[in-house]
Amino acid sequence: MGKLLGFLLIFSSLFISLVAAGDWNILNQKRRNGVGSSSSLKNYCESWRINVEVNNIRGFDVVPQECVEYIKKYMTSSQYKADSERAIEEVKLYLSSCCTVKGDGKDAWIFDVDDTLLSTVPYYKKQGFGGEKLNSTSLEAWMKESKAPALEHTLKLFHEIKDVGFKIFLVSSRKETLRSSTVDNLIKVGYHGWKTLILRGLEDEFMEVQRYKSKARQHLVNEGHRIWGIIGDQWSSFEGTPSAERTFKLPNSIYYLA
Ligand SMILES: *[C@@H]1O[C@H](CO)[C@@H](O)[C@H](O)[C@H]1NC(C)=O
Repeated sequence: MGKLLGFLLIFSSLFISLVAAGDWNILNQKRRNGVGSSSSLKNYCESWRINVEVNNIRGFDVVPQECVEYIKKYMTSSQYKADSERAIEEVKLYLSSCCTVKGDGKDAWIFDVDDTLLSTVPYYKKQGFGGEKLNSTSLEAWMKESKAPALEHTLKLFHEIKDVGFKIFLVSSRKETLRSSTVDNLIKVGYHGWKTLILRGLEDEFMEVQRYKSKARQHLVNEGHRIWGIIGDQWSSFEGTPSAERTFKLPNSIYYLA
């Protein structure tokens, strides 16, 4: 009886591991060995990441410790670039038929700054990649150095949108005190010709990002602007009213701005 049970146990665990080995995973296509725990951690971290992107997971302070390496790999991978590029392609598709630009200076397009126009990945590379709580002192010190690289696909799109005749508004949760370093940084990497850079003044500093950004949009609408699109990496850049005709989310699973 004991032998039979032992045999059944061995047999069933063999069966389970065969099923597990057959589990197709986009991130694990080539590896046939060592599928066990590393595969389920990858699955866990990828599903964490996707649920951040679709806004099911909200308000996280840090990336789960066990996923920091994974998120680092993703954010420095060709997949992150491909995902961003695909979002930009969708913007171009939308642009090809969306809007009747009247040329009265009221057709507006909004961009976020960080991780939309400029990349903060070089900062997070040195700061635990989202695994450590945000240190705004060191982040702002880094921003003051004005050396964030451009996100290349967004840079090209920025100029295309401008050339169509949209007025470009940059709505950022950066503080007003970072204005000159932000402008320097943007110009240095190739951005120019935006209409207004909107930053957080003292009165907005303790406001939720989402409220601050919808207030900025309300101001634009009150001035008679038609907001055709927003490109950002945070859901708080789109939520609330007034919205835009369309919004485009770029990937970012390092941090969450509420
Ligand atoms: C935040 O960064 C500053 C400047 O790099 C550093 O002096 C400070 O100790 C950091 N704070 C924490 C809580 O890590």
